[in-house]
Amino acid sequence: MRELEAEIGRHDELYYQLAAPIITDEEYDVLLRELEDLERKHPELAAPDSPTTRVGGAPVPQLESVAHRQPMLSLANTYSREEVLEWCDSISDFLGVAPAEITFTCEPKLDGVAIEIVYEQGLLVRGITRGDGRVGDDVTHIVRTIRGLPHVLQGDTPPALLEVRGEVIMTRAHFEALNAARAEAGEDLFINPRNTASGTLKSLDPKVARQRPLSLVLYGLGQVDGFPRSSQWEDMLNLERYGLATGRHVGRRGALDDVLAHYDDLLARRDELPFEVDGAVIKLDDVALQERLGVRSRSPRWAIAFKFPARRGTSVVREIQVMVGRTGALTPRAVVEPVHVAGVTIEYVSLFNRDEVQRLGVKPGDRVIIERAGDVIPHIVGVSEDGGGEPFALPGSCPVCDTPVEEAEGEVVVRCPNPACPAVLKRRIEHFVARGGMDIEGVGEKLIEQLVEGAHVTRLADLYALDEETLAGLERMGTQSARNVLSGLEASRTRSFSKLLFALGIRHIGQHVAEVVAEHWPDLERLRAVGAEDLVDVAEIGPVVADSLLAWLADDAEQANVDALYAAGLAPVEPAPRVEGEGPLAGRTFLFTGTLEKLSRREANERVKAAGGKLLSGVSKNLDVLVVGAKPGSKLKKAQELGIEVLDEDAFLDLVGG
Ligand code: IVH
Repeated sequence: MRELEAEIGRHDELYYQLAAPIITDEEYDVLLRELEDLERKHPELAAPDSPTTRVGGAPVPQLESVAHRQPMLSLANTYSREEVLEWCDSISDFLGVAPAEITFTCEPKLDGVAIEIVYEQGLLVRGITRGDGRVGDDVTHIVRTIRGLPHVLQGDTPPALLEVRGEVIMTRAHFEALNAARAEAGEDLFINPRNTASGTLKSLDPKVARQRPLSLVLYGLGQVDGFPRSSQWEDMLNLERYGLATGRHVGRRGALDDVLAHYDDLLARRDELPFEVDGAVIKLDDVALQERLGVRSRSPRWAIAFKFPARRGTSVVREIQVMVGRTGALTPRAVVEPVHVAGVTIEYVSLFNRDEVQRLGVKPGDRVIIERAGDVIPHIVGVSEDGGGEPFALPGSCPVCDTPVEEAEGEVVVRCPNPACPAVLKRRIEHFVARGGMDIEGVGEKLIEQLVEGAHVTRLADLYALDEETLAGLERMGTQSARNVLSGLEASRTRSFSKLLFALGIRHIGQHVAEVVAEHWPDLERLRAVGAEDLVDVAEIGPVVADSLLAWLADDAEQANVDALYAAGLAPVEPAPRVEGEGPLAGRTFLFTGTLEKLSRREANERVKAAGGKLLSGVSKNLDVLVVGAKPGSKLKKAQELGIEVLDEDAFLDLVGG
């Protein structure tokens, strides 16, 4: 159990703090489940800070207010180097020390949500949001789900009291993965990492937080007892010794010139950093000098935020359009006068949903502030000038087919419920033919548009009734293109059942869930016999997915749609389930390290499983073969020490039959 805890802890660190995981989520879950099993069998041996406790406890009825022992201050801001120099001069005057003699630290200013974590006798007892600086919300239940944040401090002699402060963030990679999964499942997209982190932190249910990976980067202290302090830099080093993650490795300590050079460096590398940074915080390093300088009403005199130039621009909203998506969701977007923001011309800005339009109060004719941060889709920050236009509200009926819209309870989305709505149909066809689904080449947006507009396709099954003449007669098509489409359609008839399930665009059924479902119910007949009680038995199917699947099965129109597909000759072929202990690799365990050239990691893993082998997530004496790609890490060394067989990629391919 100790070994598993350590291994999971290491993967947490790689995943959350370094954003460089070396195993897949599935492999991670295998480790976690193994530990959970052992803890169930031997509860007395379970560590109080076991990674399994991070799965989160029970939801709380509401967030309680808690006072901070010491107020959480804010920072003076500037965009100008001049002002930073002036600030340094004023400090130097006050302290009577020459500017060149003063040591500063420079840290990235993370764009997240401020939080305080309280450790008493080394145990994590509370997490409190900044709130108004004096009183915040108790979010301990969410904080405990933050992977990589120790519930028990490392080391034998923890301080009696340690209040640490930092920023809760979501890394860009996690944000993108989260939104990709939501897009796939037909759910609303999150606006940006900061909003997502903030919303997640305020949620009452830790299970929600578990699906939205948060990270915490520490930058300061609250009240402490038994934690001797000398400087900001040393403080951070000491926190790291207790197993806490700080921003020190992306920071610098030195004279003002050094820290300003570091600011320039951070600014240049802004987009490469794993998280969003909106500036640098320059702090006087020496704690004794900090105390001499003291604080103003809301911010310390010993620190200043030197912000990065804004990535914002303003423009005027020409109109607000309403787009209809695959699930019928109505999404408003603003069409603005083209404007250049951080190197890109922006003409369309998503307004996401009704609540966002309301929050912003944006109307056609308004001048708005548009922000484009990193790779995040552009969004409107606020209205800077009221254009006096009419308030905008989402229409009561679908802008494409005029069917009255429906609102699901507890959702901000408004949907067009008409399955035959041309807009919905177009989006559904796009999804149906996409990679990962039926993977039909040559069927692009333009063609789909014509097929639907010309009533050649009124439901998915009609795709399979298309003929060469019809296709070749369409704009931008010819005989060759028509033939390509037909052969693509032909080939798609025997896609696997899981791909079909995904391609059908059932809400909340993404690629992975579709595979899980097909693994249990490998064809339509068996799936249709499924009941609610069968679904709850499958660990990877949660209540939301189960409800969606049952609703889909009970939906006559949807079922008629599938029947028509089968009647049109669709014959999904689910690959024979893997029989454990059969195949060329039967009974042997494998692990990959380094970069493979011919296979992706996923493909390589699939090959092992398909050949009857088993995957391990770490090097141990149970490992039979380590397959090594370019730039292998420490695994290779460890395997060699243990005398484990090492193969290169080609040798592995030979083993599994090329
Ligand atoms: S120090 C007493 N350091 O920025 C000093 N703050 O605009 C208080 N922030 O509320 C904060 N990165 O949420 C500090 N490296 C950093 C920071 C940082 C982000 C946030 C923090 C604070 C806000 C002030």
